[in-house]
Amino acid sequence: MLFIVLIILCIVLIIVKYKTTNYDYWKKRNILQIDDLLWTFLFNKRSMSEICKDIYDKYEATHIGTSMGSTPALILKDVEDIQAVLAGDFQSFYSRGIQINPNDILADNLLFMGDYRKWKLIRQKLSPVFTSSKLKNMFYLIEKSARDFIELIEDNRHLRKQPFSVLYTYTTASIGAAIFGIDTQTKNTMESPFLDMAWKAVKPSFKTNIQVFLSNAFPSLVNIFNFKVFGEHEDFFVGIVKKVLESRRHDTKRRHDFIEMCLELQKHGIMQDFTTGYELNPTDEVVAAQAFALFIAGADTTANALHFTLLELSNNPKILTKLHKEIDGIFGTFREELSYNDVEKLQYLDMVVSESLRKYPPIGFLQRLCTKDTVLPSKVNVEKDTAVVIPVFAIHRDEKYYPQADVFDPERFSPRNVQSLPKFTYLSFGEGNRVCIGTRFARLQLKAALAWLLRRFTLAEQNYTPTFEKSSFALRDPNAYYELIPRDPVE
Ligand code: HEM
Repeated sequence: MLFIVLIILCIVLIIVKYKTTNYDYWKKRNILQIDDLLWTFLFNKRSMSEICKDIYDKYEATHIGTSMGSTPALILKDVEDIQAVLAGDFQSFYSRGIQINPNDILADNLLFMGDYRKWKLIRQKLSPVFTSSKLKNMFYLIEKSARDFIELIEDNRHLRKQPFSVLYTYTTASIGAAIFGIDTQTKNTMESPFLDMAWKAVKPSFKTNIQVFLSNAFPSLVNIFNFKVFGEHEDFFVGIVKKVLESRRHDTKRRHDFIEMCLELQKHGIMQDFTTGYELNPTDEVVAAQAFALFIAGADTTANALHFTLLELSNNPKILTKLHKEIDGIFGTFREELSYNDVEKLQYLDMVVSESLRKYPPIGFLQRLCTKDTVLPSKVNVEKDTAVVIPVFAIHRDEKYYPQADVFDPERFSPRNVQSLPKFTYLSFGEGNRVCIGTRFARLQLKAALAWLLRRFTLAEQNYTPTFEKSSFALRDPNAYYELIPRDPVE
């Protein structure tokens, strides 16, 4: 009995401490202060992206003070401030502020890294995988995955009943192919061993929401309890990467995948950044953590982007017809193949994808941690260890930047109109030094899949109204449905 009373007392004390630590941090600095963001999220049915949008729309102020547990946080609305945080004053905001346990091998990756020197070195070494010329060489992997994906849904009608989950199969497989290449024994890239892992690693659940809450609210708990976010995938994933690296060490065939580049790095031994003097040995574990980051950053985001694009196309038959016409024009009458240059020519498809990513940015807000005291262009002081939140979803639906923001209109991204979009108001892939490293790869992967899919299928018209899942960072509606209808080979 005494034990239960003690536990209840501890919980009450933690709650009181939680609610009182930063309750007037911003008030004291003459900045509007609202309730703790994580607390609001925990007791709300909506996603964090929607909560941030509600706050953005409700308050006129350009800075909204809040907290995330023990960390004071500032929600930004001013575009110049946003530009400073993401790019101009990067030295004060290089970290995302995600607390990781040094023993958590897979979490020590580019996406989560808060150590500037380590992040800079790894980013420098990984960036070459995603240059245009590398992607051109890698396109055969993306194309094979897209083609296998179409066969999969053509041959398995029942899979079309759960469109989001089949799109996830494609994005996981195509990232898997870009990382590990395609084994000559593998007939179908859709049989990816990583599907289950990628799905579990990012799927929102009550458990992950609590984990996010606790690790943000009480960062020291992460180390005290040796809390490993991706612990359950460690043996499986590190094991696979080690096996692939070993078997490829003696293989001279060029594959143009991520593993090929990592083998090259390992051949040269210790990596060094001459500007900072930082050194790192590219061990198998370091390679595994970066490969893992590509899965968790890429699979869910691209599946959501495809899903929302198809949902909007089912809502907008005129746009769908125009897109079919463009795609059929590229494939021609008999030719059933798609090259890198073909995809580059699909300009209207590019505009449709951009508009879909505007209306439904898969990552609905960006986060940075201030790493040294600084002053924003709007003259607001930001102290070290303050979190800064950039409400991407809200900005993308702001009528000031996107008139009739709820209307799906690809023309916003025509080559002429795109020039007049104010800088730092299109943030689907982030901006500045920590911008998404996979942007070009993702766009190619999205367009290849959509081109193949809309060559072979069309969509039944419907009225789509989103019901976003309660997620701590993403914008998702995995249960939404649209009917894929097979087309005649050439219409
Ligand atoms: C539509 C698909 C995608 C979207 C919307 C997206 C969006 C984003 C966003 C918003 C960020 C954070 C940027 C910031 O904080 O400024 C990010 C970072 C990142 N993304 Fe993506 N992403 C997508 C696909 C991919 C793919 C396919 C990969 C890899 C193959 C990838 C790898 C990464 C990595 C490694 C980072 C961390 C970069 C760093 O911190 O230096 N992403 N992405």
